Amino acid sequence: MPSVSEKIIQLTRELNYHNYLYYQENENTITDREFDLKLKELELLELENPQFRQPDSPTLRVGGFITKSFETVKHQYPMLSLGNTYSQEDLVNFDKRVKKGLDNRPFEYICELKFDGLAISLIYENGKLAQAITRGDGSKGDNITNNARTIKTIPLSLFGEKIPSKLEVRGEIYLPLKTFQEINNLRIEKGEAPMANPRNAASGTMKMQNSSVVASRNLDCYLYTLLTKEKICDTHFDSIQLLENWGFNVSKTYRKCTSLAEVIEYIAEWNIKRHGFPVDTDGVVIKVNELSLQEELGFTAKFPRWAIAYKFESATVETRLERITYQVGRTGAITPVANLSPVLLGGTKVKRASLHNANEIARLELHENDFVYIEKGGEIIPKITSINTGKRLPSAQKIIYASDCPECGTKLIRNEGDANHYCPNDQKCAPQVMGRIDHFISRNAMNIDSMGPKTIEGLVQNGLIANISDLYYLTYNDLNGLVLYSNDQSKGRSLKEKSSENILTSIEKSKTAPFQTVLFALGIRHVGKTVAEKLARHFVSLDNIKVATYDEIISADEIGEVIAKSVIDYFQNDANQLILSQLQKAGLNFQLNQKETNTRSASLLGMIFVISGVFNKFSREEIQDHIIQNNGKVSSNISSKTTYVIAGENMGPSKKEKAEAIGVPIINEEEFINMIN
Ligand code: IVH
Repeated sequence: MPSVSEKIIQLTRELNYHNYLYYQENENTITDREFDLKLKELELLELENPQFRQPDSPTLRVGGFITKSFETVKHQYPMLSLGNTYSQEDLVNFDKRVKKGLDNRPFEYICELKFDGLAISLIYENGKLAQAITRGDGSKGDNITNNARTIKTIPLSLFGEKIPSKLEVRGEIYLPLKTFQEINNLRIEKGEAPMANPRNAASGTMKMQNSSVVASRNLDCYLYTLLTKEKICDTHFDSIQLLENWGFNVSKTYRKCTSLAEVIEYIAEWNIKRHGFPVDTDGVVIKVNELSLQEELGFTAKFPRWAIAYKFESATVETRLERITYQVGRTGAITPVANLSPVLLGGTKVKRASLHNANEIARLELHENDFVYIEKGGEIIPKITSINTGKRLPSAQKIIYASDCPECGTKLIRNEGDANHYCPNDQKCAPQVMGRIDHFISRNAMNIDSMGPKTIEGLVQNGLIANISDLYYLTYNDLNGLVLYSNDQSKGRSLKEKSSENILTSIEKSKTAPFQTVLFALGIRHVGKTVAEKLARHFVSLDNIKVATYDEIISADEIGEVIAKSVIDYFQNDANQLILSQLQKAGLNFQLNQKETNTRSASLLGMIFVISGVFNKFSREEIQDHIIQNNGKVSSNISSKTTYVIAGENMGPSKKEKAEAIGVPIINEEEFINMIN
């Protein structure tokens, strides 16, 4: 007859073994009923004899431990993170670095998915789980062993061969997407706020004090690193196979790759498959397979040199809408902005997304505190793609668009056919007054480059200018000694003699700007650079535009109703007429330079260009000007109609991929310059 302690040890071992077979080998060697009966028996024995309870007892899975505050534990090996990459180019560079570091000796890569959860380090002593530690700051983390024990796929005891007496395993604790949805549905039913995303849910859960709650959340864990003091295998591949054999949950998605091309293939494959994958993954981790070569390559201060993370592009992330604010542009157009709970998206922290206009808010049916999905549209400005309506609280109110200007309090208006609301107080509303002048002096417009927004602000605040025409009547005495304030109002600085002279010189120089530039610089609503160019060419002089009828305006090439209406409104406005006459008196070009029109070249006739990236010789706008001047067209989207993509530095990777996929030739700045010369 075995003793109580022997019975407890035997039951613990038996139940753990069945668990291992069930979770790792998919083998049902015992019925659920038999398992539960044995578990109950063990529970009873432990209750009566708590001194014999084993640290790997399966009864620990159900939790019941309260951790008041988590003990801080030092990591035996630092828990570093990985360098991130977002493009193929970065990968090519990584590959080059590795090859150089290894003097071109042969090696292999292992690709794995990058699971989006909470990094964990599990320490096993004599085959039993001894400690589970969070990453923390990389050198020390929180001891969350009680909570980790509730995760069914984290083995409490290891089974198999060659198990070292001490080993450390690292991986990611995550909440499967389905479980995440179920938990949130329940919370909503109970009127509780839903959780933002599976990653936050997983890490929040693991820091809970009551391990029974942790147990109820059904978290899971994938392991991907084995660390042992003695060398027990030669490759990463072998080490994760060992982990699998010992009963760890290793995702079957890893693959050996013998070239960078195979790595890229793996990434492309998973970039699609990840959408149907039951676990959130935000990229691929690429590791050198041979452990001795990993050791040779070593680490930088922050990252291993033998591994890198490729982050999937335009990943969708979910976050909460905190509030909507409204920005007033120089034309009085109101742009609603979604202020979001900060979230990482494609490597940057996103706090805001543009909502464009009231139609967009209506399309999304946005409610207060909605959980929104955001994506990087056009690569830079994030946009809200849709709402997770499942997480909306029943009491949430629909967003009602602002009725008054947030800057000056004037009632907003919305013209028929216009998507935007406007503040009609164009002569007094500060951001409009200042914005129009800023636009007028900007590099693309009159290029009065010796002054900036701060000078404009100073001049407006001191009552020296109220509109663009006043710039041409400034005197040296107005400028010299003018006090300018920075954002920190205490630090004033005044304009010196030299700056004052420079300002006057560049204002004078601006008088030579051609008519189409002046027309653009006026800042007429909906009249951008291309439209100004078209109007100037069609009407030749400002006098002609001033008296043009609506029908005459829409007869101009590519000028539509909204633009025509805006142009008419602008010239009918008394204040604008006064400004125009002052500008004319100052000597600005109000007529197209005939010679210039005639010298336009037809070298780009019929060609459509898409411009992407940053250039050395020209600004994007200058490239655009050259295209238009040579009779080409500019488009923002790559399609089969695109003739060339002009690529600068940091060209958007999605644009590059698209151009390559459609077969649109990509040219650089030099090649473009040769084309127009
Ligand atoms: S290997 C030296 N493999 O990503 C670091 N990490 O940014 C070795 N992660 O802290 C980490 N999936 O939390 C590795 N298959 C995977 C991963 C993975 C997710 C996480 C992990 C790490 C972070 C690095």
